Amino acid sequence: MVQEKREAHSTCAFSPERQAKAMCELKDRTSAGLFEPISFRGVTIKNRIGVSPMCQYNSVDGMANDWHLVHLGSRAVGGAGLVMTEATAISPEGRITPEDLGLWKDEQIEPLVKIVRFIKSYGAVPGIQLAHAGRKASTANPWKSKGGRHVKVDLSDQEGGWQPVAPSPLKFQETSRTPHELTIDEIKQIQAKFADGARRAVEAGFSLIELHAAHGYLLHNFYSPLTNQRTDNYGGSFENRIRIVLETLEGMRKVIPDQLPLAIRLSCSDWVEGGWTVDDSVRLAKILKQMDIAFIDCSSGYGVSHARYPHGPGWQVPLSDAIRNGAQVRTAAVGEITTPDQAAEIIASGKADLVFLAREFMREPYWPYKAAKELQLKDAQTLPPNYTYAI
Ligand SMILES: Cc1cc2nc3c(=O)[nH]c(=O)nc-3n(C[C@H](O)[C@H](O)[C@H](O)COP(=O)(O)O)c2cc1C
Repeated sequence: MVQEKREAHSTCAFSPERQAKAMCELKDRTSAGLFEPISFRGVTIKNRIGVSPMCQYNSVDGMANDWHLVHLGSRAVGGAGLVMTEATAISPEGRITPEDLGLWKDEQIEPLVKIVRFIKSYGAVPGIQLAHAGRKASTANPWKSKGGRHVKVDLSDQEGGWQPVAPSPLKFQETSRTPHELTIDEIKQIQAKFADGARRAVEAGFSLIELHAAHGYLLHNFYSPLTNQRTDNYGGSFENRIRIVLETLEGMRKVIPDQLPLAIRLSCSDWVEGGWTVDDSVRLAKILKQMDIAFIDCSSGYGVSHARYPHGPGWQVPLSDAIRNGAQVRTAAVGEITTPDQAAEIIASGKADLVFLAREFMREPYWPYKAAKELQLKDAQTLPPNYTYAI
C-alpha cells in the first residue's frame, strides 16, 4: 500500500520498460540526497557538494586578492554548499611555493574577510584548509615552472627557496632538498602556529576549518611509516606517529568556538607496500570520532614519489566507504567525481556524506546548477535570485 502510494507520486513509476523504471527509481532516490542539507555542530551546509581545496599559487606574501574572490566566489554563485580555500600556510616555511595563500600574520585576515562575506551572502559555507607543506615546501609555482605542470621543482635559496622540514631527514625525490629533522621544540612551535592560524581563520569569519594532513605534507609525513624514522614520542608505533595530528587538532579546537566544525583531510592510503593503509585510516578515524571531528576528507597518496595510483572515476570513493562505515564517522569522498549521477549515487548509497570536486569545478563553476537540472530537481537551490528570476 505504502509502496503503491510512493509510486503514484513518482513520475518515473509509469515508465513502460521495467529497466527504465528501475533506473528512474534509482534517480528519484539518489538525487534527493545530493541536495539534502547536512549539519556539523552549528553549521548547516545546504547540499552535499564541496569545492575541494585547490592551490592557486597566486598570492604575494600569502595575501588573498581579487583572484581568490572570483575563484571562490564564482563557485558559491554556482551553487556549491561548501567552498574550501586552497591549502593555506600557517607559516612562511609551510608554503609549497612562494605564491601560496597564508594565514601566519594578522594582516592576512582582512582580504579574506571580504571573500568569506561574499561566499556566505550567496548561501554557501566558507571553509579554510590550514596546511604545512613539510618536506614538499620550497618548490616553484607549477604553472610557471620550467619543470612542467606536474613536476614540482625545488627552489634554491638564490631563487627564493628555503629549508624544508620533516619528521626525518628523507628527501621526497632525488632532486629534492634533504629536509631538516624537526626537534620536539620545533614540533610544538608548528602546532602553536596551526592554532594561531585557526584563531585567525575564525576572525576572518570562516565557518569550517579543515586540517590538511594528506598528500605528503608535514602531518602525513609523521603518520606514514614510509617517511617517519623517529625514535622519540613522535615516531615508531601507530600511536606515536599519529600523535602530532591529534595534538594539533586539540590545539586548534581550544581556540575555535564550540559551534565551528573542525574537519581533516587524510591520505587514507599510501598505495605502497609497507606504507599507511586504509585499515590504519579506519583505526585513526575511530579516535578522531571520539574527538568529535566533523568529517574525514578521504584523499590518498602523494607521500612518496614511487607510489602508483589506480586512477579512474571515483577511484578514492572505496576509501571513504571503508572509513565511513568502518568507523561510523562522516566522510567526504573526492577524486574524479564528475557526473551528477555518480555524485548522487555516492551520497545515496552511504559511501560518503559529502562529495568534493576539484578539477570538474575548474571546468564548470556552475556544476551544482547543472547537476540539479540534469537530475530534474526543480526545487534545489543553486543559483542566486539575481539569475533564477530571469531564467
Ligand atoms: C590545481 C589543483 C590544486 C590542488 N590544491 C590542493 C590543495 O590546496 N589542498 C588539497 O588538499 N588538495 C589539493 N588538490 C587536490 C584536490 O583537492 C583533489 O583532491 C584532487 O584534485 C582530486 O579531485 P578531482 O579529481 O576532482 O580533481 C589540488 C588539485 C588541483 C588539480
